Amino acid sequence: GKVAVLMGGPSAEREVSLKSGNAVLAALKRKGVDAHGFDADKSTLRQLEDGKFERVFIVLHGRWGEDGVIQGALEVLDIPYTGSGVLGSALGMDKLRTKYLWSAAGIPTPEYAVLEAGTDFDKVAAKLGLPVFVKPVREGSSLGVSKARTVAELKAAWKSAAKYDDQVIAERFIDGAEITCGILGDQALPLIRIETDREFYDYEAKYILDTTRYLCPCGLPADQERAIQALAQRAFAALGCSGWGRVDFMLDKDGRAYALEVNTVPGMTDHSLVPKAAQQAGMNFDELVLKILETADV
Ligand code: DAL
Ligand code: MG
Repeated sequence: GKVAVLMGGPSAEREVSLKSGNAVLAALKRKGVDAHGFDADKSTLRQLEDGKFERVFIVLHGRWGEDGVIQGALEVLDIPYTGSGVLGSALGMDKLRTKYLWSAAGIPTPEYAVLEAGTDFDKVAAKLGLPVFVKPVREGSSLGVSKARTVAELKAAWKSAAKYDDQVIAERFIDGAEITCGILGDQALPLIRIETDREFYDYEAKYILDTTRYLCPCGLPADQERAIQALAQRAFAALGCSGWGRVDFMLDKDGRAYALEVNTVPGMTDHSLVPKAAQQAGMNFDELVLKILETADV
C-alpha cells in the first residue's frame, strides 16, 4: 500500500526535518515502496483521512511532529505510523519529565534545576557548579542550548532558551565524551562517540561543519559498550518509547554514563547518527529505512 512520508512541519527543526524526510523518501522509492512526501501541516491530515495511505512514516522533528501531537491525530484516523506512540513521543520531547521518570527508574541523568522568573541564579550556580548547560525543556538539535560560565551568562542563557520554550532547565556539566546509542526495534545499535572542536555538539557541529568526528566503533571496551547499550534500552523503555530512536549520553572521565535525552524521531540527514550506527551494524541507509517502516504495524 501507499506510504505517506511526513516532513517539515512548523517546528524550529523544520529545515533539519526536510533534509531527513527527503533522504527517507528517496530511500523508500529506491526500495520500490509507493511513497509520497508531504510538507506536513493541518491540511495533510485531511489528505490522509480518506484511507488512501496504508502507513505513515514520520520524519518530523520537534514539537507537533515528534511530541505525540501528530501521533495522536494518526491514532484518531486509525493509520499505523512509525516509531513511538503518543506517550513515549510526548515524554521523549520533554527533558524535564524525562528526568522525573529516569530518577524513578534508576537511570543516571545529570542533576538539574528549573529556571524561571524569580529563580535565584546564584543558588543554581552553587548547586550545579559552573560551567552549566541551559536547555529549553522541549526542543531539539541543540536549538536554544548554551553553556554558561558565569552567573551573568546563566541568566542570559535562560533568556535565550526561553525564546524556544517557556520551560527551561539548567543541567550539570559532565566533563567527558558525548556518546549516542541508536535503537532499532529490540536492537541497540553500536555506540558512536562524538568529538567536536566547538564548545559542545551544537547545531553548527551537528549539521554544518564537516570537522565533527564520529567514532564508530566508539573505542570503549566491549563490556562497557554493552552496558551502555543496555542502559539505553532501559532509558528508552522507561519513557514508554518504542520502534526506533536514539538515546544520548555523556560519559564522564571515570567512565560513568549519564543519560541526557531520548530522540523519538532522530535525524536521518547525511550528517546524522543513527544511519552511521546502522552502517557499522552492517545495514545501509535504505535497509535502515525499510526496518523503520516495519515499526508501523499494519
Ligand atoms: N533532534 C535531532 C533531529 C536529532 O536528535 O537527531
Ligand atoms: Mg533531542
